[in-house]
Amino acid sequence: MNLLTLALSLKRMKRIELHGKKFKRFIDAKSIQNAIDDLAIQINRDYNGKRPVFIGVLNGSFLFTADVVRRFKSDCEVAFLRLASYDGTDSTGKVNELVGLNEDLKDRDVLILEDIVDSGNTLAYLMENLSTYQPNSLKVATFLFKPNAYKKDFPVDYRGIEVGNEFLVGYGLDFDGLGRNLEDIYIIED
Ligand code: IMP
Ligand code: MG
Repeated sequence: MNLLTLALSLKRMKRIELHGKKFKRFIDAKSIQNAIDDLAIQINRDYNGKRPVFIGVLNGSFLFTADVVRRFKSDCEVAFLRLASYDGTDSTGKVNELVGLNEDLKDRDVLILEDIVDSGNTLAYLMENLSTYQPNSLKVATFLFKPNAYKKDFPVDYRGIEVGNEFLVGYGLDFDGLGRNLEDIYIIED
């Protein structure tokens, strides 16, 4: 095994440890890209000629956004936003705020790009907030979807891969800041 092969196999090894927790490989990079190929076929079909605005939700969706938009065949715009959560003074504690969006979304076809939809709380907040811009259409594409955890009524229009409730890292998803750079997706080992 030469050094390059060794380096590649180490990078792609089946088990990893982050912050002292063990994870094992769950979805490999090839399967990730195949799932995005399928999503891109649907998105290309539905948004052909519409000049959509794709909105990536940072930080988790930076890789997914890049992979979707480079497969999109007609004109489009790309923007990112971030949900900042801080301790509010009201009874619920946490307050969300949407930051970084400068685009005028009125009458636009907006597609939110999410890395993962779990309980759906984040998505609900985004849908409610972005609909106030009066877009022509507002839909969501998520790479991963946890159907058993999802608690909301909003349709999740495009879903890459459906997964269970276990905690995942890699391909943009982090465990306490680490793991976003991994090409494959890993699942926590108990
Ligand atoms: P929500 O519960 O649908 O609002 O998901 C909230 C956020 O939790 C997601 O945008 C992710 O950042 C994070 N999240 C949910 N499940 C996972 C996971 O399995 N791994 C890493 N982050 C996750
Ligand atoms: Mg996220």
